[in-house]
This record gives sequence, C-alpha cells and structure tokens, in this order.
Amino acid sequence: MDKFVITGGTALQGEIPTSGSKNAALPALAAALLTEEPVTLHRIPAVRDIRTMQRLLVDIGCKVDVDGGTVRLHTERVVCPEAPYELVKTMRASSLVLGPLVARTGRARVSLPGGCAIGARPINLHIFGLEQLGARIEQAHGYIEAVATEGLRGATIHFDRITVTGTEDLMMAAVLAKGETILRNAAREPEVTDLAAMLVKMGAQIEGAGTSTIRIQGVERLSGAEHAIIPDRIEAGTFLIAGAMTGGELTVTGCVPEHLGALVSKLQQTGVHVTQPGPDSLQVRGGNPIRSVDMTTEEYPGFATDLQAQYMAFATQATGIAIVVETIFENRFMHAQELARMGANIRLDGKQAIVAGPTTLTGAGVIASDLRASASLVLAALVAKGETVIDRVYHIDRGYEKIEAKLAHAGAKIRRVE
Ligand code: EPU
Repeated sequence: MDKFVITGGTALQGEIPTSGSKNAALPALAAALLTEEPVTLHRIPAVRDIRTMQRLLVDIGCKVDVDGGTVRLHTERVVCPEAPYELVKTMRASSLVLGPLVARTGRARVSLPGGCAIGARPINLHIFGLEQLGARIEQAHGYIEAVATEGLRGATIHFDRITVTGTEDLMMAAVLAKGETILRNAAREPEVTDLAAMLVKMGAQIEGAGTSTIRIQGVERLSGAEHAIIPDRIEAGTFLIAGAMTGGELTVTGCVPEHLGALVSKLQQTGVHVTQPGPDSLQVRGGNPIRSVDMTTEEYPGFATDLQAQYMAFATQATGIAIVVETIFENRFMHAQELARMGANIRLDGKQAIVAGPTTLTGAGVIASDLRASASLVLAALVAKGETVIDRVYHIDRGYEKIEAKLAHAGAKIRRVE
C-alpha cells in the first residue's frame, strides 16, 4: 500500500491546474448507458473511482476506450444490467447506473451500498423515486431489483431531503420516461447542472437544472453526444486552502470561481487575501494572521461537506475558536482524531467540532480514512514541523489526480513511497 511522506514548512507558490470533476464525471459516464450511440467525454480525471465506474460499465456491456482525459463510450447493447456488491462496496456512486439501466432496458439489479466511512448513506430516495416513475422494486440478498417492463412513466417526485446522486439518478431515469417528470427539492450542485447539459446534448428535454425544481419531458430515444466535464471544485478548493494555510501565493487555474463562492467568502472572512486574476482562476495569498471563523456545511451553494475536513485542518492554524458543524453526513469527523495526533486541539460534540487554534502541528504517522479526510491530513502535513507519513493513500487516489505531483510543482516536499 502506498504512503505519502511529507515534510512540512514550505509555502506553496506558483500555479496548480484543476482536473475534471470526479463527481460530475461519474454520472456522465453512467449516462452513456442511455443510448446505443457513441458518447465522447472530455476532461475525465484519471482517478480510481473513475476506473471503477468504467469497469462497471464494461461489465454491463459498454465499450470503453480511454485516451488520456478523453473517454469514448459505446453501449450498443446492455448485456448485464447489474452493479455487483464487489464494486458497490468500493464505490457507492455505482448506484448511478440504476436510473439509466431501468430507463434503457426496463430492468436493473444493484447491490445495496451498506455503511461507509462517512455515514450510513442509504439509497432509499433513489428507490422511492423509481417507484414513483412506475418501477416495481424488490429487495433480496442485499440487492434491489427494479423492473419496469412497460417502461417508466413521468411523475412528480418530492425528495424529502436533498440528494446529489439521487437527483442525478432520477434525472437519468426520467429522460426516457413517458410524459413529464418534476423533481422537487432537487440538488442544485454544479455536477447536477453539468449532467443536465450533457443529457440535453443527447436530446433530452430538461429545464430548471441548478434550481430545486427540475422539469423533464421524456423522449423516445437519446442520441450520442460529446461533452467536456466541468472542473473539480473540490480539488480546486483543496488547493486554495493549501495555499492559504502554508502562507503562500498560489493560483489555482482552470477552475470555475463561481462554484467556489462559499469557500472564497469563508477564506476572506478569516483574513486570507483571495483574488480572481482571470475568468477561470483564483489566487490566494496567505501570510497574514488568520482568524478562526465558524463554518457549517450545507448543500450547494452553501459550504461543501467535501471541503469540511480540509477546512478543519486550516482552522487549526487560525487564531481563536472555530465551530465546524457537519449537517450532511453523520460521521464525517474521522480526520479529527488523526489531526489531533499531529497536535491539533479539536473537541468533537455530536455534529460539531470545536477547533482551537493556532496550534503548532508536528509530523506523525497518520492513517487516511476516506477521500476528503486524507486530503485534510495532506494539508496538515504541509504546515507540520518535520515529517508526516500518511498511510492508505489509496483513499486519496480515489478522487485526486496526481495530487503529489501538483503539490510538488508548487514547492511542497511530498513523495509517494510504496
Ligand atoms: N441520503 C438518504 N437517502 C438517499 C440518499 C441520500 O438518506 O437515498 C442522505 C445521505 O445519507 C446523506 C445526505 O442524504 O446524509 C446527502 O447525501 P447525497 O445523496 O447528496 O450524497 P451522495 O449523492 O451519495 C454526493 C457526492 C459526495 C458528496 C455528497 C454531498 C458523488 C459521487 N458523491 O454523494 O462526494 O459528499 O454528494 O455533497 O457525487 C466525495 O467526493 O468525497 C463525496 C463523498
């Protein structure tokens, strides 16, 4: 298993480019199941979750051809409309094939995800939505099977809590359903909007993506399309926090500043200088004393839960008390104990973490527990005195493309060892 060895104390300088969004690429890949024509996607990040999704699509019957960041997909025929436990347990987003498979073939069998490192994360809302669209659902042996022999019918679906992949899954089911579907209390994340843009290129009729009400008029069939995935706002945000924390002057290029509004505002409140040197770049300048500012995670356009762990690492370097509240997932503070091993002063109290700073962090052996928790340990290591060894970096490889090369390019002392 690979480890990262990081020696802290260097301020990050220069530029770091943003890769394509993992969480926009995953549903886009699944959407290729909706048509028998070829689909071409650009800016697909080379990360492990994407490889897992591609493996799943191949098993289902899709031909997948990877050429750098361009992926060509062709699902002439669905051979096996199934997402097995072996894949779903390693990547919950595998359930994104559920909607497209039922829509295309009238049948899907998908393993239930079970628990994961950041909480229970059920898919009951995906299932409820499909039932509303007329699918018959049966659950046995850890799998759910959805059948709609006569095809899906449009319906109004009100999500009783906001779900990102749930919204995407149901949008992909509804594009081929008969009649109109209205999704209420839909997720407004840019990844949902990007998927809608791709589906529209394929011939789908969708209005309102990016708002909490999405209207879809079902069509008979979809065609192939070519689409470039949006930049990864979470990756870009992670680098902005890294630049600010290390007191550097770092420009993150190829991002969409609008997608990072909540983070930029928060950093500005703490005293970090943030500017937008160009339409697709953001620059942070650290070095000034940073103040502790409370943060609560929210659905987009609020502060992303996927940046909470990184913000907590940042808060260890700010002066005062910061209360970090996690409202999206019930168990997403695994990084707190590891940060504490490096000297952070963090007390957990239910959904809240109380971070007192500034603390001098010192290098230690730590263990990555999930993707974003690992990112927060990398950030902490960049400011820690001495050497930090982060074990199980396969978690970080799930969602960050060449993170060590990108950080090293900006001056970080980071290397991967086997
Ligand atoms: N939920 C339910 N029932 C459902 C679906 C969700 O109760 O049927 C709950 C979840 O347990 C959670 C909340 O609703 O408490 C929100 O979950 P959501 O469904 O929005 O999460 P997700 O779609 O599974 C995506 C991202 C996550 C990101 C969340 C929240 C992808 C592939 N994953 O997950 O990304 O944290 O939205 O923004 O898009 C990551 O990249 O590290 C990551 C975990």
